[in-house]
Amino acid sequence: MTRTPIVVLISGTGSNLAALLSAAREPECPYVVVGVIADRDATGLDHARSAGIPTEVVRLADHPDRAAWDRALVAAVRALDPQLVVLAGFMKLVGPQVLDAFGGRIINTHPALLPSFPGAHGVQDALAHGVKITGVSVIEVDAGVDTGRILAQVAVEVLDEDTEDTLHERIKSVEQPLLVDVVRKLTTIR
Ligand code: GRF
Repeated sequence: MTRTPIVVLISGTGSNLAALLSAAREPECPYVVVGVIADRDATGLDHARSAGIPTEVVRLADHPDRAAWDRALVAAVRALDPQLVVLAGFMKLVGPQVLDAFGGRIINTHPALLPSFPGAHGVQDALAHGVKITGVSVIEVDAGVDTGRILAQVAVEVLDEDTEDTLHERIKSVEQPLLVDVVRKLTTIR
């Protein structure tokens, strides 16, 4: 069976990456994770290392400006030749060079029901606003901040006693299977 190559970009603990890797171990999984790239020494890289998957760190601080970082990111991703690029908790906006190179083939997961609460603090902002329902969105990446086409969403109830951490953990527990589901669908060759 030919599997569709994907690259995953992370910044954090990599629970979404771990879910993608776990699903990829199933014999009928339509995708294979061919590399994981981070913008920092993300603890989540350990999930890839222990699975024997190539990792690379492309730090903004190691480049003279954002455009140079963006070009380095394109080179790192291109070297892995993926069909799909999955931003799974990647806490940087990708720039025009990345969009030119992989536009239409990049997806992102966001811990809120877009178009509400875009940006880096989706959980905190939803809690501060006092919404009773929030959730997770998997979207196509475009040039805006979490403005791309919505591919899938799941709602999560906000409880009175929620903190940002408890709410985010409940969101993550639905985010992981949702992301795996979307990636499976996008990588299934029909
Ligand atoms: C996820 O909830 C993602 O949507 C958000 O940050 C979290 C990353 O979690 N941007 P992890 O690194 O996959 O555990």
